[in-house]
Amino acid sequence: MDFQPSVSLSHAGFHVFDMDTEVKFFTEVFGLRVTDRGVLGDRGEIAFLGADPRDHHQLVLYEGRTNTDEVHHNHVSFRVDSLQRLREIRAALDRHAGVTGVHTVNHGNAWSVYCFDPEGNRTEAFVDTPWHVSQPYEDALELDRPDDEIIEATGKMLADDPTAQPFDKWRAQFAEKLREAGADAG
Ligand SMILES: [Fe+2]
Repeated sequence: MDFQPSVSLSHAGFHVFDMDTEVKFFTEVFGLRVTDRGVLGDRGEIAFLGADPRDHHQLVLYEGRTNTDEVHHNHVSFRVDSLQRLREIRAALDRHAGVTGVHTVNHGNAWSVYCFDPEGNRTEAFVDTPWHVSQPYEDALELDRPDDEIIEATGKMLADDPTAQPFDKWRAQFAEKLREAGADAG
């Protein structure tokens, strides 16, 4: 079947009480690998996990869950196929009753639009950039600029970052790690 979805579910994020416990659970039970782990400002530690080289991560864990009654789901994320599609989604969010907090972020490896849906669930839509850069990473994204300017600005933004590399190279390396882990497990 030759069908390309215009959006596909990519990853989810959860708030966690104890990062090490949760990382251990998802790596040991499901065989996910930690693809990046770091601290983002005063928001605490973030861990990115995955088992599919097409995605930098399939699960994001956020330190700082405080109460079992609180929503611990952080966001659900859809990959879209173009910056134009991302602009259309942002416009639809701006029009949609009850949607709040619509904003763009340049993650270096993704151009993203976030919002809270009418019931307060955080959602993301994103386009892959051509690059990988260590996460977490956040910068401004001027989505109204033409595609080529966004690509050029992102390339310049990442030029001095020693962790930046072509995303395809990162994917090939991650695929190799996963193959080695599979071989180790016999
Ligand atoms: Fe995300």
